[in-house]
Amino acid sequence: MASTSLPPLSSPSAGTSTVQIDLGDRRYDILIGEGLLQQADTFQGLPKSSKALIVTNTTVGPLYTAQLRAAIAPFHKDVLDVELPDGEQFKDWATLNLIFTRLLEEAADRKTVLYALGGGVVGDMTGFAAACYMRGVPFVQVPTTLLAQVDSSVGGKTAINHPAGKNMIGAFYQPQRVICDLVTLDTLPQRELLAGLAEVIKYGPIADLAFLDWLEANMDRLLARDRTALKLAIQRSCEIKAWVVGQDEKEAGLRAILNYGHTFGHAIEAGLGYGEWLHGEAVGTGMVMAADLSARLGLIDAGTAQRITALIARTGLPTKGPKLGAERYLELMQVDKKAEGGEIRFVVIGPLGRATMQGAPEQMVRDVIAAHTA
Ligand code: NAD
Ligand code: GLY
Repeated sequence: MASTSLPPLSSPSAGTSTVQIDLGDRRYDILIGEGLLQQADTFQGLPKSSKALIVTNTTVGPLYTAQLRAAIAPFHKDVLDVELPDGEQFKDWATLNLIFTRLLEEAADRKTVLYALGGGVVGDMTGFAAACYMRGVPFVQVPTTLLAQVDSSVGGKTAINHPAGKNMIGAFYQPQRVICDLVTLDTLPQRELLAGLAEVIKYGPIADLAFLDWLEANMDRLLARDRTALKLAIQRSCEIKAWVVGQDEKEAGLRAILNYGHTFGHAIEAGLGYGEWLHGEAVGTGMVMAADLSARLGLIDAGTAQRITALIARTGLPTKGPKLGAERYLELMQVDKKAEGGEIRFVVIGPLGRATMQGAPEQMVRDVIAAHTA
C-alpha cells in the first residue's frame, strides 16, 4: 500500500529530537526529550491566548499539572485545569461534557488553547473537545504514557467510545505540537509500559524490518526503561507514524496499516467492557491473531507469525484473548471502521515489514479465534 519508501531512522541525538509531521500548513513538530516540561522553550511559538485549559485526569493531574502550568504561564493570562475521571470506561459523552462545561463556565473564547496532559484517553478526548468547541480551538498534546507518546498523540485521530463500538465517534483534528517528556514515563506503572510496547512492536511488522530486528535485540533494555532505548523507540515509532499520516491523513488507504491487531483487539476491549483489558494488551493479542491469520492466508510462513508472537510474549503481554465465543467476536468486529458492506477487513502482514488490508473466509477467522483464546 505504501507509495513512498520509509526514510531511514534519523540519527538519534543526545538532546531533544524533533520529528516533523508534514501536513502542509497544518504541519507540526513532535518533540522527544528529557525534562521538556521544565524547559521554557518547549512551548515557544505555540498560539498565545488569554485563557488556556489543561485537560488531565485524577491520576496524572496531581503529578504534572503544576509543572505544565508553570511552563505555559508566560503564554496565557489564565491557566485553568479540569481533572477527568481516570479510565477507558470514562471515554464517553458524559466525561467529554465536563470539558465543555468548564470552558463555558469560564467563558473561554475561540482562541483558548487546550493542553492534553495524560495518556491516550485524555489525549483523544481533549482533541475531540478541541475539534468541537466553538467549531475548533487549538490544542497541544502532552502525552505521558508510552502508548500516547508513540501513537495516540500523533496524527490527529480523536474520539470517544460508544458502548457498541470503540472510538466510533470522533474527528480528525491535528494538534499544534506534541511534547513527549521521557521523564514523565518514570511514574508510569509497568503494566502500562508493556501496553505501550505493544504499539511500538506494531511498527516493525507493518513497516520496518530493521526496527523489528532492533526491538528483538533491545527488548530487555526497553523493559528495564533504559532512557536511551526508550527515546530511540519513541523516535522511530513517531517517524513511521509521521510517514504514514503524511501520505494518508484521513485513512483513505495506507493509514489503515496502523490498525494492525486492532480489529481483534477492539473486539476484546468492547466485548469485555472498556477498561477490563488495557488497549495495548488487547492490541498485543490482536497482533498475534492477525499474524496467524496472515499465515493462514499464505502471506507469511508460520515461522514468521511465531516470530511476531514470540516478541509480544517476551514483553509479558497476553497472547491469548478472552473466550467471548466466535459469534461475539464476529459481531463486534463488524462494528469496526474498516468494515465495508458488512465485510470484516483485517490488516495482514506479508511479506514481513509490509501490511495490507483484506477480508478472510469466515471459517478461517473462526479457526484463528479458537486457536488464540483461552
Ligand atoms: P490511558 O490514557 O488510560 O493511560 C493509562 C493509565 O496510565 C491511566 O490510568 C493514566 O491515568 C495513567 N497515567 C498516564 N500517564 C501516567 C504517568 N506518567 N504516570 C503515572 N500514571 C500515568 O491509556 P493509554 O494506553 O495511554 O491510551 C489508550 C487510549 O488511547 C485508548 O482509548 C485508545 O483507543 C487510544 N488510542 C488512540 C490512538 C489515536 O491515534 N488517537 C492510537 C492508539 C490508542
Ligand atoms: N492508531 C491508528 C492511527 O492513528 O491511525
